[in-house]
Amino acid sequence: MTRNSLTRYASQMDRRTLLTAAASAGLSPLFVAFRPARATLPMARLAVRLEARTGHAQLLDAGEPRTSIWGYNGTVPGPTIRIARGGEIEATLVNGLDEATTIHWHGVHIDNAMDGVAHLTTPLTEPGATFDYRFHVPHAGTYWYHPHAHRAMQQGRGLYGLLVVEEREHVAVDRDLALVIDDWRLENDGSIETRSLAGLHDAAHAGRLGNVITINGQPLAQFPVRRHERLRMRLCNTCNARSLELRLEDVAVQLVAIDGMPVPPMALADGRIDLPPGGRADIVVDVTGAAGTLAAVTEVSHQRLVLGHLAVAAGAPTREQRLDTPLLLPSNGVPLPDLRDDPLVFDLRMEGGAMGGMPEIEVHGKRMDLREAARRHRMVWAFNGKADAHDAPVFKVKSGRPVAIRIDNATAWPHAMHLHGHHFVAIQRSTGALRPWLHDTLLMGRRETATLAFVAGKPGRWMLHCHMLEHQMSGMSCYFEVEA
Ligand code: C2O
Ligand code: CU
Ligand code: CU
Repeated sequence: MTRNSLTRYASQMDRRTLLTAAASAGLSPLFVAFRPARATLPMARLAVRLEARTGHAQLLDAGEPRTSIWGYNGTVPGPTIRIARGGEIEATLVNGLDEATTIHWHGVHIDNAMDGVAHLTTPLTEPGATFDYRFHVPHAGTYWYHPHAHRAMQQGRGLYGLLVVEEREHVAVDRDLALVIDDWRLENDGSIETRSLAGLHDAAHAGRLGNVITINGQPLAQFPVRRHERLRMRLCNTCNARSLELRLEDVAVQLVAIDGMPVPPMALADGRIDLPPGGRADIVVDVTGAAGTLAAVTEVSHQRLVLGHLAVAAGAPTREQRLDTPLLLPSNGVPLPDLRDDPLVFDLRMEGGAMGGMPEIEVHGKRMDLREAARRHRMVWAFNGKADAHDAPVFKVKSGRPVAIRIDNATAWPHAMHLHGHHFVAIQRSTGALRPWLHDTLLMGRRETATLAFVAGKPGRWMLHCHMLEHQMSGMSCYFEVEA
């Protein structure tokens, strides 16, 4: 082949890849997707040391007191781990706390022994001890890590960090920014309010909601940007219990991935993204504002609260005109369940909590009314009548078989249902808000029913729980078992 025909061949290939990708996502071929994969990227291997310990952070405005927190390597958020898809992570957890801990890798389809769930998949790491987590990251996208022991206390004090798995294909953005968003309940002296930490009152209601919201551990964080710059922003909600309703004002926003998994790019007319605790969204932001202006990042669930700004730098724009093409991320190839193929169907009824009537529930094999369960065992929620059902799997299923979990939220509260080691599609919702997206965490409204479908993945014990940590802690948690 001459050089010319090679080039032509290559560009036809590009176009075809593009068309196939667009067609499979049900899109017109007008999408700027990605350049073809660089032939052979080396499989990255990354070693990281994560010491869980105390530290300080300026969560309140400058000049106000600092907050003593718990963080990985003493910072909040902990270090962002970046690795290419398919790479291997060796993370050494060093426990510098005076209580036992673990690390869970939220959203990663991991080998079960590395899932980090205390008393279920992975040994607790005692104070002063270390544990080596070693695993491959099979999918690109935005994930995160946090303890899975005494969670409301540990994660609530700042133990978490972001795990970014990069596509092996080039993604056409100018920059990649992470926004880890947390809420804190702080005293006037800046310290974390601890009297109610892991408290039963919050547990029976909406969970622990903070009075301060930070981005990347900062109040009113500023992100310098340029006019007409195209950013990929990775949003992660690390709040104990708050569902965030975020808005990016005065910029053009498209949603490109949820919980790490690509979705067909969708322009968000009002720049608004809802994110349950534990959830992530990848968005593409095109900066439209003039040099010297600020574009606010706000939380709007109650009132408009400014969390930070994109500050448009003075000087020349990144390009003459802003980009307005949708950006399609390459698929991760997660298999979608085919429910005609002998699915295992499991019904899950959520009960309990304040204003939920007073069901009798079972705690450690004994039936009792909710009041007694609360007083004696600090349990206020149940799945299928059982609080904290960890003695046995709620079902067993062979790897590769489709599963449909029909959830009935018979409580007066929303819940952020999270599945470990898998992503699911919500194939039915009583609210009708159906989107054919893969999630690992789904916010279910009060009294809502939904069916979550997925293909049973790696063998092992996988948790299904509410990601509102105080709900999980007080009963909203169970697991199932995948058999080889
Ligand atoms: Cu991010 Cu079991 O949790
Ligand atoms: Cu998880
Ligand atoms: Cu909940």
